[in-house]
Amino acid sequence: MLNTFSFMKMSFYKELFLQILLIFSLIALSSQTRYQTKSHYNFVVKEARYTRLCCTKNILTVNGQFPGPTIRVHKGDTIYVNVYNKGKYNITIHWHGVKQPRNPWTDGPEYITQCPIKPGGKFRQKVIFSEEEGTLWWHAHSDWARATVHGAINIYPGINSTYPFPKPYGEIPIIFGEWWKNDVNKVLTESLESGGAPNSSDAITINGQPGDLYLCSKSETFKLRVEQGRTYLLRVVNAAMNLILFFSISKHKLTVVGADAMYTKPMTRDYICISPGQTMDVLLHANQEPSHYYMAARAYSSAAGLEFDNTTATGIVQYSWSHTPLSTPSLPHLPNYNDTQAAFDFIRSIRGLPKKYPHEVPTKITTHVITTVSINTFPCPNGRQTCEGPNGTILSSSMNNISFQTPNKFDILEAYYYHINGVFSKGFPSFPPLIFNFTADSFPLTLNTPKRGTKVKVLKYGSTVELVFQGTNLVGGGLDHPMHLHGFSFYVVGYGFGNFNKSKHPMNYNLIDPPLLNTLMVPKSGWAAVRFLASNPGVWFLHCHLERHLTWGMETVFIVKNGKSLNETLPPPPPDMPLC
Ligand code: C2O
Ligand code: CU
Repeated sequence: MLNTFSFMKMSFYKELFLQILLIFSLIALSSQTRYQTKSHYNFVVKEARYTRLCCTKNILTVNGQFPGPTIRVHKGDTIYVNVYNKGKYNITIHWHGVKQPRNPWTDGPEYITQCPIKPGGKFRQKVIFSEEEGTLWWHAHSDWARATVHGAINIYPGINSTYPFPKPYGEIPIIFGEWWKNDVNKVLTESLESGGAPNSSDAITINGQPGDLYLCSKSETFKLRVEQGRTYLLRVVNAAMNLILFFSISKHKLTVVGADAMYTKPMTRDYICISPGQTMDVLLHANQEPSHYYMAARAYSSAAGLEFDNTTATGIVQYSWSHTPLSTPSLPHLPNYNDTQAAFDFIRSIRGLPKKYPHEVPTKITTHVITTVSINTFPCPNGRQTCEGPNGTILSSSMNNISFQTPNKFDILEAYYYHINGVFSKGFPSFPPLIFNFTADSFPLTLNTPKRGTKVKVLKYGSTVELVFQGTNLVGGGLDHPMHLHGFSFYVVGYGFGNFNKSKHPMNYNLIDPPLLNTLMVPKSGWAAVRFLASNPGVWFLHCHLERHLTWGMETVFIVKNGKSLNETLPPPPPDMPLC
């Protein structure tokens, strides 16, 4: 009797022990969830038929998808993407915001780091993730192909690491785009032939859909299904070509927790403002009555008199267990299209999370660069038929008064690596060649015309760079410019309106918790300052991410030279670099 009892007791404890073991191993498993990631991708660039706004047309896609496929990786992964060009035109693909340490070879911008992939061609692109964590995106980097050739990159925390906020119940991409009824190539070529501004788009899209407010769109409107009480991570990408956007969700707050794949101090707002090129990680708490709520995106366009797409894209947040409401839900409140204050109140409130910084904010600066970013005009050349820019000119743009001429026979990276002359020249000016009141109301006409050139700025390996962008009000009175640098993230240490003053403004820099970004918005009639360590050798594109400004020449190139040791030196190119 006693024996049986002790035996039972023993088996009971054994059972209990096993149970506990099981529970613990389950906890261990769930706390280090591995996401579904892949290290090899096939991107087939090809045309596909899509219908939007009651019109059907062929668009360029990756694998037939619009928006394109999402890349999923963990922090620090290296992946390979086989890009096949099955389209009719040259193409390149760029991994926006991925720093690609020592690997500019597969960064992607056409004629900057590579020759384009020709129709029928293929390029195996290595994508090296390092410090990035959060959301980035990839897009075509030739002509205007990125209008439809783009997709999100989700970068999950590394193994044995988690988010700096409670793990969200679900993760949803929110990708903004712009849709033209016309062929995007035609929009580009027509504008180049006319010399004027390109036609504005016909719709803004959320995950490829314009939403209820447009013709023939209602049934396809993007729906975000949520459960009451849960929190969702929105991975927001602005892939629009020419539009900075306001975005908001009716009756819900948005908490920004990351920007450009670096975590930020949580910041809760009624709306966000996001420029082309930028990405944001935003938490949405589904804490309202189960129902349907509108999300909406609309342009922020600060340029006086500039035509733009002033339509509103919508999507629906749909709680489970809720019925379709009897009356139409109301639209969220969004700032006015020209509310610069609303845009900048938001933008400058984004702060970094110093605990997460991969390296320190540079305080001893070895290299100062100040560059204007301007809209310009060229006089109408003799014999040219159409010059539809202001007062019969051709629209242009510049940095430090140089309208960048992108090479079209060979790329800058290979020309640099193989010492081939005649593709680019050094000596991009470190300061504006002419000092005037950049943010004045009017200017002598002679200031409108820039120079043409392919000048790059050469940086020593390991230099600490302070780069100040000075907006000007030339031609049209000024507007915001989302400036983007490849190969780096920079600390945004200061913003201001008016002219940058190098003896006054640096004293108010934020060196404590600046955000670490790859794209920053230079305010209309103002300036912005960034700092970074030039520790990534290679050829790196710096440009405005408004596509029409890039088309007109608002760009330059930074060449970071090799350092001393082998791991500070550019390795040779991959064997399958596309030929020109
Ligand atoms: Cu989003 Cu040069 O790139
Ligand atoms: Cu611009």
